[in-house]
Amino acid sequence: MEIIIRPTQEQCASIGGRIIANLIKRKSDAVLGLATGSTPIPLYSELARMHKDEELSFSEITTFNLDEYIGLSGDHPCSYQFFMNEELFGKIDIRSDFTHIPNGEAEDIESECLEYEDAIRSSGGIDLQVLGIGSDGHIGFNEPGSSLGSRTRIKTLTGKTIEDNARFFDNSNQVPRHCITMGVGTIMDSASLILFAFGEGKADIISKAVEGPVSAMVPASILQLHPSVKVIVDEAAASKLANLDYYNEVYANKPDWQE
Ligand code: PGA
Repeated sequence: MEIIIRPTQEQCASIGGRIIANLIKRKSDAVLGLATGSTPIPLYSELARMHKDEELSFSEITTFNLDEYIGLSGDHPCSYQFFMNEELFGKIDIRSDFTHIPNGEAEDIESECLEYEDAIRSSGGIDLQVLGIGSDGHIGFNEPGSSLGSRTRIKTLTGKTIEDNARFFDNSNQVPRHCITMGVGTIMDSASLILFAFGEGKADIISKAVEGPVSAMVPASILQLHPSVKVIVDEAAASKLANLDYYNEVYANKPDWQE
């Protein structure tokens, strides 16, 4: 794991934007895995800025989002489809038929999940997956206790996640109890991953995910087993890392050829 610590979210997002732009320069038809929630918003603003100011084109890019609430239509303001349209897709030149988000209104949820897995496979697999982390350690909506080998499926949100996400709804009773999420195994199949986390509220879980034991009780800890993961965090989210000084030392002394 490479741990990159920057003072602000914007600086973290700028590094993330640069990594994605470099990938697109190397592979104009790359497949990106995308996340929702507050965390990726600065990254999406940066990508939109790069599209506008630096002619970064997404015209051949395919995307797969991690998850969607069950029971919300794509035009519901709290659906992840709506979020993606607002925060990113509406601001870049991506083809809407190249974007994928699980259908939370599918009549047959199991078939929807199998088809989502098939679509990822048929695209050639995800080159780079963007992740946030829940305060309970989830990635996607893989809540604590999720099988570390799980595939796309229905999950029930924990009380903690419902409480955390209630801020996007009028009240916590309106937060759907179920979602479709890529599995931990699906996420781990990505060729590379970037996990972002910002703010003091994420400091505990970042220290567990990065430096604690690998455990289904902290699903993000599985990333320790992946050969190509960057964890990009602001100073507040990094504040409880035991090896903080070492990560800063590594970053400050990175050989130029490592980008
Ligand atoms: P947040 O959520 O970005 O809104 O903190 C992260 C997550 O639940 O994965």
